[in-house]
Amino acid sequence: MAQSHFILLLLLGSLGALLLRVSYAHKDHVVGGGFGWKIPPNATFYKEWAATKTFVVGDKLVFLYRTSAENVLEVSAHDYENCGNSEIIEIYYRGPSTVQLSTPGQHFFYSGIGLHCEAGQKLAVNVVTTAPPPPFVADDSLYSIGGLEIFTAPAPSQLRATASADTRRYIAPAVAAALFGGYLLGALGM
Ligand SMILES: *[C@@H]1O[C@H](CO)[C@@H](O)[C@H](O)[C@H]1NC(C)=O
Repeated sequence: MAQSHFILLLLLGSLGALLLRVSYAHKDHVVGGGFGWKIPPNATFYKEWAATKTFVVGDKLVFLYRTSAENVLEVSAHDYENCGNSEIIEIYYRGPSTVQLSTPGQHFFYSGIGLHCEAGQKLAVNVVTTAPPPPFVADDSLYSIGGLEIFTAPAPSQLRATASADTRRYIAPAVAAALFGGYLLGALGM
């Protein structure tokens, strides 16, 4: 293989790994899971739901509800505590609503319909800037590109021992992307 092709492959591989990394970073969190956004069975329902998640800058909250049955108000901490409306930051009223978490720190939401907030239909999330290590680090053999799952051979134990977890999570995507790049070049007759 000509040297320029090899360099091109490396570039394609790196680009692929970068794209994969970006697509891993952001999540859509469906608030309340299958229950959706409505008066909860108890006052701690949404607190319990949020406690099981990590919210990262760039993630989205998806509030599932019918327009006019519910809405979503983003409010201050104070308003959140007492279901007040002195500092409303944003109003979303066309269900379902998708809210991008674009700044770190605490974000507070509640339903502004009737006494739904008083009944516990409120959500506080703490948004962090850095994504936690994604779960696929635990399993080096499986990667997913936009729903397409790619299996790669497990990294040799030598590699496992010497590469840091952070490096390791780019190797297989880079290899996969480089192979794909090679295939493309081949198909183009380059
Ligand atoms: C609140 O309701 C949910 C869903 O029914 C349940 O899983 C959770 O244990 C309840 N929490 C309390 C404190 O009762």
